[in-house]
Amino acid sequence: MSSFRLTRTLPVDATGADLRADVRQGLGHNPKSLPPKWFYDARGSELFEEITRLPEYYPTRAEREILHDRAGEIAAACGARTLVELGSGSSEKTRILLDALPGLHSYLPVDVSESALTLAAGALLAERPSLSVHALIADFTRGLALPDTPGPRLVAFLGGTLGNLLPGERNVFLKSVRSLLRADDCLLLGTDLVKDEATLVAAYDDAAGVTATFNKNVLNVLNRELDADFDPDDFAHVARWDREHEWIEMRLRARSALTVKVRELDLAVTFEKDEELRTEVSAKFREQGVREELGAAGMELSHWWTDRAGRFALSLSIMA
Ligand code: SAH
Ligand code: TRP
Repeated sequence: MSSFRLTRTLPVDATGADLRADVRQGLGHNPKSLPPKWFYDARGSELFEEITRLPEYYPTRAEREILHDRAGEIAAACGARTLVELGSGSSEKTRILLDALPGLHSYLPVDVSESALTLAAGALLAERPSLSVHALIADFTRGLALPDTPGPRLVAFLGGTLGNLLPGERNVFLKSVRSLLRADDCLLLGTDLVKDEATLVAAYDDAAGVTATFNKNVLNVLNRELDADFDPDDFAHVARWDREHEWIEMRLRARSALTVKVRELDLAVTFEKDEELRTEVSAKFREQGVREELGAAGMELSHWWTDRAGRFALSLSIMA
């Protein structure tokens, strides 16, 4: 018997309060910035799926290759009965894990995007009648409470999404993940790797302009949710490699001097010509750095796998 539940772990209006606080903080300070989770309304989730199929966006294909090659080893190292996935999106690559874990009882996808969760869970349930799916609409940076499902637990955090957090946020986040895990539970982490600048920049500034549309979608979210009057055409998409921090920075650059009203906040935001709003970082990693960040959160890296071209890594930590 298949089963499906959708749980909202936040009060219904908490997301709105969050958005208001983030926009006040992020647009009210210099330099301007916004946290990346606001990209993912229904349209944003759709656009991200389109990004994963772009010729320039190699991370999804590289991570899928590793999952295909290593799913058996992952299952052998971690005989999970519950698979928790943070930032699960379409759960497309997750099918490889679901197929490889013989004793799996429950799948718990966690995402801020309700539309992505509903679509993904619907498709999975049609394919896998014996799986129990419990989808959680939740912000994984806000301390997670998981339902009581059978252990051991495998927590998967794929897609390089860890890199969308800043270093201090990553430490807080990884510690909160550690606190969800007991002995023999596992963390499977996908991280994109440092490589040549041209390959990296192209992955975040594709020729078809899908990433530009995705980046500007955050302005549509503010227009709709906060009654703002951004014109996305007033901004140019910018993707830049920051060599010092080893991250890609996504920005929106004002094409001219302009003032935007955010009516719900009673806020007027002025941009100078060429002023940039930072919308996202995507950090790129090295094995030693991943090992250290896991270590600082009380976890030990036990396996490190890359795709054959060495572009992306999956790592597995088994809890002591
Ligand atoms: N894991 C998928 C999707 C990656 S895109 C893949 O590898 O292709 C990042 C996903 O994380 C999106 O679905 C987005 O909605 C979700 N997300 C981003 N920030 C989040 C947060 N703070 N809490 C929960 N989900 C978040
Ligand atoms: N986790 C993805 C990454 O960093 C998210 C992403 C891909 C993204 N392309 C983007 C976020 C463009 C913002 C803009 O690779």
